[in-house]
Amino acid sequence: MSEIYNPNPEFAKDAAIPSMDAYWALQNKAIEDYDGFWKGFADEKIEWLAPYDKVLDESDAPFYKWFTNGKLNVSNQCIDRHLDTKADQNAIIFEGDKGDVEHITYGQLSTRVNKMANLLKNEFGVKKGDRVVLYMPMIPEAAYAMLACTRLGAIHSIVFGGFSSEALKDRIEDAEAKIVITADGAFRKGKPYMLKNVVDDALAQGGKSIEAVLVVKRNNEEITWVEGRDHSYNEMIDAQSDVCPFEPMDSEDPLFLLYTSGSTGKPKGVQHSTAGYILWAQMTMEWVFDLRKDDVFWCTADIGWITGHTYIIYGPLAAGTTTVMFEGVPTYPDAGRAWKMVQDHNITQFYTAPTAIRLLHKTGEDEPKKYDLSKLRVLGTVGEPIDPPAWKWYYEVVGNSKCAIVDTYWQTETGGHMISPLPGATPIKPACATFALPGIIAEIIEEDGTPTPVGEKGFMCITRPWPSMIRNIWGDPERFKKAYFGDCKKDEKPVYFTGDGAMIDEDGYITITGRTDDVINVSGHRIGTAEIEAAIKNVDSIAVSAVVGKPHEIKGEGIFAYIVLKVEGSHSTDEMKSEINAVLKKEIGAIALCDAISIVPDVPKTRSGKIMRRILRSIVKGEEITQDTSTLEDPSIVGIIEKIVKEA
Ligand code: WT7
Repeated sequence: MSEIYNPNPEFAKDAAIPSMDAYWALQNKAIEDYDGFWKGFADEKIEWLAPYDKVLDESDAPFYKWFTNGKLNVSNQCIDRHLDTKADQNAIIFEGDKGDVEHITYGQLSTRVNKMANLLKNEFGVKKGDRVVLYMPMIPEAAYAMLACTRLGAIHSIVFGGFSSEALKDRIEDAEAKIVITADGAFRKGKPYMLKNVVDDALAQGGKSIEAVLVVKRNNEEITWVEGRDHSYNEMIDAQSDVCPFEPMDSEDPLFLLYTSGSTGKPKGVQHSTAGYILWAQMTMEWVFDLRKDDVFWCTADIGWITGHTYIIYGPLAAGTTTVMFEGVPTYPDAGRAWKMVQDHNITQFYTAPTAIRLLHKTGEDEPKKYDLSKLRVLGTVGEPIDPPAWKWYYEVVGNSKCAIVDTYWQTETGGHMISPLPGATPIKPACATFALPGIIAEIIEEDGTPTPVGEKGFMCITRPWPSMIRNIWGDPERFKKAYFGDCKKDEKPVYFTGDGAMIDEDGYITITGRTDDVINVSGHRIGTAEIEAAIKNVDSIAVSAVVGKPHEIKGEGIFAYIVLKVEGSHSTDEMKSEINAVLKKEIGAIALCDAISIVPDVPKTRSGKIMRRILRSIVKGEEITQDTSTLEDPSIVGIIEKIVKEA
């Protein structure tokens, strides 16, 4: 598709960045005076408690430091500083799975966060630098807990509720967390589901650093209680004072950890900073969603992912807007649920993943027409490439051909958007992330740092540090350097590798073409093939497994496993699939289940024993094998596997 969709002129005239000229003016300023560019925004946007002395310190690259020695507090940035003007404005609109709605003003948010901070501080001794794990459903208390941590300077690590007890235990142990905040459970598709039992299981297996478990009541289901360890939020919160002074934090103090998958079996604790993160969360919120007074912003992500951190909680609240938090799923009770919510809450920006768009398109093509969606101005996508048919439906049917669509490209590690259209400025090409945002220096290069020619696939890199970038992998600085910076240098400085491939066209538009490493993107969630293979090792009858992504109509990619049995013919494909999925569910969680498996006599290996995954990927996609197979230990295996997969 090569059509261009120009910004709606009616709306562009009042936009935060109203034209490509305005975009280039900002970007050129960043290129000419990088420090000055960021200083201007840091001074304008952040309420500093003490001034910083240097904008960017590159002396210990790639351990960059931003706004050195400045002091601030993110809970002040998101709450207190708004209270003079916004105490009665909604900060959060919560909608439960069953349709129950709660409006929480900035004034109320302040009270509840202060109380929760006092509870954590006074009853559990949580202080600056402590790690707090959240294993929470999408309820307002999750937001209070996040902000209470930032108030005290404690570092939260949110573990998505779909992860298993084993995965939760690993994350607790890696961070040496002091306390877990959870809930009895919550509601999904009209039914209760449980979370507290998963925490119990995790702590039965390990997690010895945990001193207390704080439990929020949500679904009132019966739960088991460990005396002395477990504590009831609901019974303790009322007694807390609603005044808890915020801790002045250093710009570079860690704000939170968020574990994500990489190319080894062990997830990485991505460490974000205080000042740089909140600055970019707020700036991108204002620019990319073209935020205006009285907007109501809805991001459908879960707070267990970076999208939920930056664009449900920190970005919207730092920018002083109203953010929607939804407990349920957009297709329950029917495929009109999301659109009914857009209508009922007067939502102006709607931000979701392509997988959800494909699902909503498939299950309710005409549903959006039944609701008044006229307040919508900006529609966003995130997490994976969007395909042109889904884009078109989103644009024409949901957006009534009037809304800007922002295809936002970024990662857990980038903290906020990197490449995205700007609603009032960018002439959009469908399903294209378009241009790097002002201040972001993105380049598509070869492994040695030379630019990739126009129209060819190269590595998507960010060649200058930016404020909200990952600061470290918790406890593993060597892995941090190796995983993101490699050996490639530009102007003698390390270059950040995203792990994605991308292409630039003759007009300078950037299209993301997908991961170049062993990471699969299932419904916009990142899962490492090495992590899955490590879990599959627990199945006794399996000698070798090799996992690849297989294109999937709704999920984008599904998980496909090639399996070599220890004893040929000992098990059927169905038996193996259910055994593997039972193990994956236990070790990682339901998000990592295989869609399909193939039992093969062997996998293609080089003579040195390296599995040639590219060949396996091509086979599952039904592509012709173009790779050189002559270096394989046994080239004939390729044809044998192709035949097995085709006939399955
Ligand atoms: C990976 C990051 C960023 C929040 C959600 C996922 C892929 C992300 C896009 C996009 C194509 C995208 C990349 C990236 N991705 N946005 N607009 N177009 N691909 O965060 O779990 O850290 O995953 O998601 O492959 O590296 P994440």
